[in-house]
Amino acid sequence: MNSFLAIWCAFICFTTTIAFVKNDTKLWSHTFEVNEKLYLLGSVKMNFDDAINFCKVNNLQLLTIANETENTNFYNELKELGVFQNISGLWTSGTKLAKSNDWIWLPIFEFITFFDWGSNQPDNLYGNEYCISILTHFFVKGHWNDIKCAELLIPVCEMPN
Ligand SMILES: *[C@@H]1O[C@H](CO)[C@@H](O)[C@H](O)[C@H]1NC(C)=O
Ligand SMILES: *[C@@H]1O[C@H](CO)[C@@H](O)[C@H](O)[C@H]1NC(C)=O
Ligand SMILES: *[C@@H]1O[C@H](CO)[C@@H](O)[C@H](O)[C@H]1NC(C)=O
Repeated sequence: MNSFLAIWCAFICFTTTIAFVKNDTKLWSHTFEVNEKLYLLGSVKMNFDDAINFCKVNNLQLLTIANETENTNFYNELKELGVFQNISGLWTSGTKLAKSNDWIWLPIFEFITFFDWGSNQPDNLYGNEYCISILTHFFVKGHWNDIKCAELLIPVCEMPN
């Protein structure tokens, strides 16, 4: 009987441990690759600073977009996933340097040279729109929006190069 209990425990304890470790995957609603680069969509909305940290603590970085090709391929993949009806936007790591018109990808501290602003963006509508989100309304022309960094959006993390 004892050996039965030992085996029972070995099984249950092991699977419980695995389940606990695997619980981490709940952090992500979707993972996908575009051009051999891994992307993970968070499952919870958060502000920009938290999004930066959320990716970092998972050994990833908040989304950067190198150029037009990467942007188009990434956006087409999002469109194919098609699960964003109720999500107003996704975080990129793009942010504006204070008192300038320069935008950078924060995790790699590189100036952004390719932009894909939506119509009439960036508009700095409320005078405090210093972070870049991706619009998930697939009918819009151009896909980026400047938005308040305090806004709560879904983070997109990527595997750093
Ligand atoms: C496990 O997942 C549930 C449901 O997503 C979540 O509420 C809980 O906080 C997670 N626990 C840990 C330890 O991550
Ligand atoms: C775009 O960026 C990707 C990723 O850094 C790179 O592999 C690719 O060569 C770039 N393409 C162009 C046209 O610059
Ligand atoms: C989106 O929101 C609508 C209305 O609240 C709801 O009926 C629908 O199920 C939601 N869709 C998804 C994919 O969450």
